[in-house]
Amino acid sequence: MITGAIHFGALHEALTKGRQGDPESVLNAIDAYGWAGNLMINVGDVKGKYLDDAVIAAKPKVAVELGTFLGYGTIRIARLLPEGSRLITADPNAVSHAVSTALVKFAGLDDRVDVFYGYSHNLLKKLKSENVDIDFLFLDHLKDFYLSDFLLAEKLDLLSHNATVVGDNIKFPGCPEFKEHMKAHKNYDTVVHETFVEYSNYIQDEVTVSKRKNVLPTQKGPLSAQQIEDIADKHASDMGKSDSTISWKVVVSPIRKIFSLHWFGA
Ligand SMILES: C[S@@+](CC[C@H](N)C(=O)[O-])C[C@H]1O[C@@H](n2cnc3c(N)ncnc32)[C@H](O)[C@@H]1O
Repeated sequence: MITGAIHFGALHEALTKGRQGDPESVLNAIDAYGWAGNLMINVGDVKGKYLDDAVIAAKPKVAVELGTFLGYGTIRIARLLPEGSRLITADPNAVSHAVSTALVKFAGLDDRVDVFYGYSHNLLKKLKSENVDIDFLFLDHLKDFYLSDFLLAEKLDLLSHNATVVGDNIKFPGCPEFKEHMKAHKNYDTVVHETFVEYSNYIQDEVTVSKRKNVLPTQKGPLSAQQIEDIADKHASDMGKSDSTISWKVVVSPIRKIFSLHWFGA
């Protein structure tokens, strides 16, 4: 995988410049690597502050991150979780899975983090089959999947009554459909933070933080495995997302983002 060099370069920095069991030092090592001009696609320290504030305010029991990459966002969220809470993070890229598993362990947070190897929609189905409610959802994977996965989480009634949903890269590379949907959503209050792309002082970006207005779930109780499959299949067909289009986009999208950053001279 072409992005493997980035993953392993950052892992080396974190393992050599960070301290074992010290999440802050791991984040600082990766941030320094990003600011030194290495092309990275993790949320970074500047946008990461909005993520931190949202986690602190939400105090989630269950947090979910879609798009793990190195595990940087994972460490940012996990270090702020209340005692007894957990974070599940999903990525279908084998390099991401291996690197993030190592990094989370090095940071000493493996007791509260599950690294799920697979696609976001499969994690959502799995969580529903386990009857888990999501209190905090961080969308940071394929930009054209933010809306689709959020809608799937809603159809599966996975989001708790006061859930927080955070979206990164809303302006760059951008997901205008998701932003407009959340701003117009009657059950959510959405704040759009204007900021900059990770490790850049001039490429504009936005982070959205959407807070559910204490709306109780409409559908009570667990669903059968067949009901979950039926909802997910119908949703995929409504959204025009087959397994082959998903796997193709997963490979192309991070490469496209890295080339776009390079083009902007970040
Ligand atoms: C922008 S990076 C994530 C950065 C990470 N959240 C952080 O801040 O450290 C995007 C990641 O999403 C992953 N990805 C792409 N499609 C996905 C999907 N359908 N489900 C989960 N992850 C996906 C890519 O493999 C890539 O590692």
